[in-house]
Amino acid sequence: MFRTIRFKLTVFVFLLLIFTTFVSFLATVKISNRVILNEIIKRAESLCKSSAAGAAYSLISGDALGIDHLVFKGKESNRDVEYMAVIDTKMSVMAHSDIRKRGEILKGNEGNLFKKNGDGTIVREISLSSGKSFEVSTPIVFKNKVLGTVIVGVNQSVLLEAQRLARHRILVILTVILFVGLIGILGLSLFITRPIRELSAGVADLKEGKRTRPLKVYSKDELGKLTESFNEMSALITNQKRDLSRYTQELEEAYTSILRILATAIDARDSYTLGHSARVALHSLMIGQEIGLKENELEELEIASLFHDVGKLKTPDAILFKNRSLNSMEYDEMRHHPEDGAEILNKVKPLQKYVEPVKHHHEYYNGKGYPDGLNGDDIPLYAAIISIADTYDAMTSTRPYRKALSKEEACRELEKGAGKQFHPELVKAFLRAVKDRGQPSFHPYLAKVI
Ligand SMILES: [Fe+2]
Repeated sequence: MFRTIRFKLTVFVFLLLIFTTFVSFLATVKISNRVILNEIIKRAESLCKSSAAGAAYSLISGDALGIDHLVFKGKESNRDVEYMAVIDTKMSVMAHSDIRKRGEILKGNEGNLFKKNGDGTIVREISLSSGKSFEVSTPIVFKNKVLGTVIVGVNQSVLLEAQRLARHRILVILTVILFVGLIGILGLSLFITRPIRELSAGVADLKEGKRTRPLKVYSKDELGKLTESFNEMSALITNQKRDLSRYTQELEEAYTSILRILATAIDARDSYTLGHSARVALHSLMIGQEIGLKENELEELEIASLFHDVGKLKTPDAILFKNRSLNSMEYDEMRHHPEDGAEILNKVKPLQKYVEPVKHHHEYYNGKGYPDGLNGDDIPLYAAIISIADTYDAMTSTRPYRKALSKEEACRELEKGAGKQFHPELVKAFLRAVKDRGQPSFHPYLAKVI
């Protein structure tokens, strides 16, 4: 999951969204603070100017009570105001919302200049014990003569509270945006990575040989083109596989035909052995099935059986067809056919796996056979099976020099030879198979051969 493109894309875009949201938050808060500050200062300026106009008449008429009333009314009517005062030209406090400060002499030009208007109104940034705040002062003018100044101090807690509220609202809005953005990112990554995931699954299916249907093309972009290319490639591979399968089938049929011709050619040299190889294959299969060989093993056993006497192609006619008993030289020549067969098969790579069974099908379990005198389990399994099937067919076939034995007599001869000429367990398997089934089931290759 953590290695998927979807996960990486989601994490990347989400982090980008968090970063963007954070930067937006800082910028919006800064702008919001500035707007709130300007708004509060604007209201203080407005109060200051209107109070300066009213104070002028009170100062001219010497109405100290009117000035006091103006100051207290101004302070009470506006919660943005921390304090309000009227001072004369000598900086002496004539009226103050904090009555204890009446008569004090103020220091002029305290704090940093924040803003100065054309009408003489000045806004200064001042330091209080609770932090920074702002003070607005407007001169009291009558007939171009300055009579004093109205001072309004901005309520710092109102300013901070307004800014805190604004920050909170911005935070809530950005959190909602972040949440909606996350859902959008998940949906978007799902939408974007869907063709990639399907493409990946398609490649995996193709690798395992499962894919048959083309993938859906979602867009005309690079991914869409890649999907189209994949579909074309998949179709090409599927067609090639189908062609290859057909060629393989044709090749197998051609191979089977060659085997049929070869087996027939081997047997056809001697009218007495006509069909011998096919019958040996049939009986070998009976043993193979009885001992539980797998399908592919049975096929190999069958073909090895068909080939077992292929070496006789090199045996001279005079020896092969001789009606009388062979002399020692002729006998040695005749005994050479397993090795001749092995030599023939060894020249063709696909047939080399049949070399061992063919070479050793005349070995004896007790080691007295030929060509190598192998014994016991050293004799290849297929060779040991073919040895029994070969001898059984030879005994039950009529030859120029003797009559055929009955099946029962041949089985008894095999029993006598168990542990000497033949592998005892394989003889038992053959006898069991003959007893249980009589005839073996036909194998596809054999059905064509005989
Ligand atoms: Fe043989």
